[in-house]
Amino acid sequence: MYGMVNQAIEQMVCETHGEAAWEKIKEMAGIDVDVFISNEGYPDDYTYRLVAAASELSQTPANDILEAFGEHWVLRTALEGYGELMHAGGSNLKEFLVNLPNFHTRVVMIYPKLQPPSFDVSDVTEQSLLLHYHTHRDGLAHFVVGLVRGLGKMFKTPATITQQASRAEGADHDIFKVTW
Ligand code: HEM
Repeated sequence: MYGMVNQAIEQMVCETHGEAAWEKIKEMAGIDVDVFISNEGYPDDYTYRLVAAASELSQTPANDILEAFGEHWVLRTALEGYGELMHAGGSNLKEFLVNLPNFHTRVVMIYPKLQPPSFDVSDVTEQSLLLHYHTHRDGLAHFVVGLVRGLGKMFKTPATITQQASRAEGADHDIFKVTW
C-alpha cells in the first residue's frame, strides 16, 4: 500500500499514545523504516504488522484498532488532506455512500498504482442501504466499519453499521447494512 496509509497509522498512534509508542510499535513489527514516504509503495504486510503490534502494545483487539483507524482516515487523513475530493463525493451520508463505487477512480488520478477496493450499493431506502465490499485483501472488514462511522461523523449523521455477510466466514464478499 502507499506510504500514506502507514503515515496515517503513525499520526493516529503519536496523537493518542506519543512518539515513543510509535517507535516501539515499529520495533515490535520488525520494520526498519525511519520515515514513510506518502507516494511510495510498501508491502501490505507492513501495514498488517503495524496494526498487529499496535494491538499487542495497547492490549486492544486488532479489529478495534482497525475501526479507530477507519474513523481517523476519514476525519483526519481524507478530510484534512483531500477535502475537495471528499466534498465532491456527496453532500450527505446517503449520497456519499451511493457514489462510493466511483470514489477511488479519482484517487487513482493522484496515486496511479493504487490497488483500491471496490464497493457496490443495493437495497437503498431513505434510511438505509446495503454496502458491498470487494477486495483481494484479507481482514479489513472492520476498517470499513470505522470508515463508514467516520463518514457518519463527517456528515453529522450518526450511522449504525452491521455486518450481514462475511468473507472471513465463507461468504463471497462482505456486506454491511448501514442505517442512519
Ligand atoms: C481522499 C480520500 C481517500 C484516499 C486518498 C484514499 C486512498 C487510499 C489508499 C492509498 C489506499 C491503500 C491501497 C493502495 O495503496 O493500493 C486505500 C485503501 C482503502 N480505501 Fe481509500 N482512500 C480515500 C477514501 C476512502 C473512503 C471514503 C473509503 C470508504 C468509505 C475508502 C475505503 C478504502 C478501503 C476499505 C481500503 C483498504 C484496501 C482494500 O480494501 O483492499 N477509502 N485508499
